[in-house]
Amino acid sequence: MTHPKVAATDHSIHELIQHRWSPRAFDASRPVPRAELLRLFEAARWAPSSRNEQPWRFLLLERDAMPEAWRALLESLTTSNQSWAAAAPVLVLSAVRTSFEDTGTANHMAWYDAGQAVAFLTIQATSQGLAIRQMEGFDRARARAAFSIPAEFEPAVAIAIGYAGDPEALSHEKHKTAETQPRKRRPVGDFVYEGAWGRSPR
Ligand SMILES: Cc1cc2nc3c(=O)[nH]c(=O)nc-3n(C[C@H](O)[C@H](O)[C@H](O)COP(=O)(O)O)c2cc1C
Repeated sequence: MTHPKVAATDHSIHELIQHRWSPRAFDASRPVPRAELLRLFEAARWAPSSRNEQPWRFLLLERDAMPEAWRALLESLTTSNQSWAAAAPVLVLSAVRTSFEDTGTANHMAWYDAGQAVAFLTIQATSQGLAIRQMEGFDRARARAAFSIPAEFEPAVAIAIGYAGDPEALSHEKHKTAETQPRKRRPVGDFVYEGAWGRSPR
């Protein structure tokens, strides 16, 4: 039987995109080899960006190598996110430089670019058999203070990375259930228009 998280697509797509999903169940006893982690950031590195500004930054926090810093990010997460992310051996804080480095003027594409870099990273992670889930649910001021993030950067998402674990170990019942629920999406006709705004494609 096909895994419920494999996207049920209307058109065939690359299998990495089809198979990527965001688990909450991580195997706390299985660390991610450093070389595997570095490959993720290499993938992010090659994302396109407006003016090639590359406004993304990633703060890597490995539980086993730097438990205090890892814990500082964990503790900035919402209680709900902490309940599952505590099993992830790697936490990453992404941040965005919202002004251009050369002129200091606003870079209105910065968030867009950073999102693309994270998308590249997540697809790369999928190709390496890693589990990965992004989180907007964290206290940005707390994370900024904990890691002395400069004012020109905005914390974007926290990212949990590791290998898949046992969903039964999740403490929240709704999180357990979500691990096997099929992934839902709007149909393509809801967000692709053809010829005129609001008109679904033929
Ligand atoms: C920017 C962003 C923020 C997210 N924040 C959270 C979060 O705080 N907690 C959480 O459990 N999941 C979070 N998610 C995961 C989404 O809920 C998940 O990607 C979405 O439900 C689609 O599921 P899929 O990634 O398995 O396809 C976030 C995802 C993104 C892209």
